[in-house]
Amino acid sequence: MRNGHRVFSGIQPSGNLHLGNYLGALKNWVSIQDDYENYFCIVDLHALTVPQDPKVLRQKVRELAAIYVACGIDPEKSVIFRQSRVSEHTELAWLLDCVAKVGELSRMTQFKDKARKGGAEAASVGLYVYPVLQAADVLLYNAHLVPVGEDQRQHLELMRTLARRFNGLYGETFVVPEVFIPPVGARVMALDEPTAKMSKSAPAPGSYIAILDEPDAIRRKIRRAKTDSGTEVVASPEKPAIANLLGIYAAITGSAVEEIERRYEGKGYGDFKKDLAEVVVEGLSPIRDRALELLDDPRELDEILETGAEKARAVARPNLESAWTRMGLS
Ligand code: TYM
Repeated sequence: MRNGHRVFSGIQPSGNLHLGNYLGALKNWVSIQDDYENYFCIVDLHALTVPQDPKVLRQKVRELAAIYVACGIDPEKSVIFRQSRVSEHTELAWLLDCVAKVGELSRMTQFKDKARKGGAEAASVGLYVYPVLQAADVLLYNAHLVPVGEDQRQHLELMRTLARRFNGLYGETFVVPEVFIPPVGARVMALDEPTAKMSKSAPAPGSYIAILDEPDAIRRKIRRAKTDSGTEVVASPEKPAIANLLGIYAAITGSAVEEIERRYEGKGYGDFKKDLAEVVVEGLSPIRDRALELLDDPRELDEILETGAEKARAVARPNLESAWTRMGLS
């Protein structure tokens, strides 16, 4: 372990977890797990910023816990827990709300995008202060590293700004965390629209590959994935669809994009897509099988989450209290 350095990251238990979440986040969490002290959170409070069906949310929390473990996050090595069960997250969020500025939050592109869909006036206040809760998540553990996909870069920048501002105003309190964004797989695009991000809330199931999709569904989705004009399998800017599929292939197998391009010289999109489907099935099937097995015994998952919350609280509490002391609350 690197000098007891900590990693924190989280995923919302909303919608269906997809290949983008796996390649942009989960796969990298697993790969650095042995080098750090890890806190992997199910950010259920963040999910509430848009309406959720309580029954579905309850189920999705367990599903996400199962997927974390099935992907290779070992509850013996990493702390897996639910955000709502460690109330220090919301307590610190309030302190940081008083340090963050309206102008900063108004510039967050995720808020602007989501608010645009339903109208900014109708967006929840939770959606607006979402990045502050996210900052609290990480700062509460004094985490050094935050492995995420490309879409979280702006939230991470704000988090760093808030940590520095707090330290400047009240004295050294928080570690200023570094962002870890993988070189490939950090921005997986939709299969039906390669200019849009693959998204959990996308209405068309054909646009994403869910981690729990059956092998045949994965094959069908990749067969139907949009391609570009031409026939060459190359990742050029004029070929966003093929570039995306090549990126997926590279991220799953660990091969370089150029090497994959060479392998498909003289072959067409059809051959490439067929092989890609098998690569994705091979990568996701064991995860799906293990997750479904774990979901058969939800008690084990509930126990993992309870133990995780206890361990998380033990770190979170004293750090919240030092923020209190700095601010004059104790
Ligand atoms: P969320 O739940 O939207 O996504 C979880 C993780 O998946 C990554 N991701 C992607 N990566 C590549 N391609 C895609 N198409 C793609 N879509 C999503 C995200 O970048 C993320 O890493 N705000 C966060 C959750 C959060 C968090 C935190 C993360 C709350 N607190 C503290 C890190 C640290 C979110 O909504 O992620």
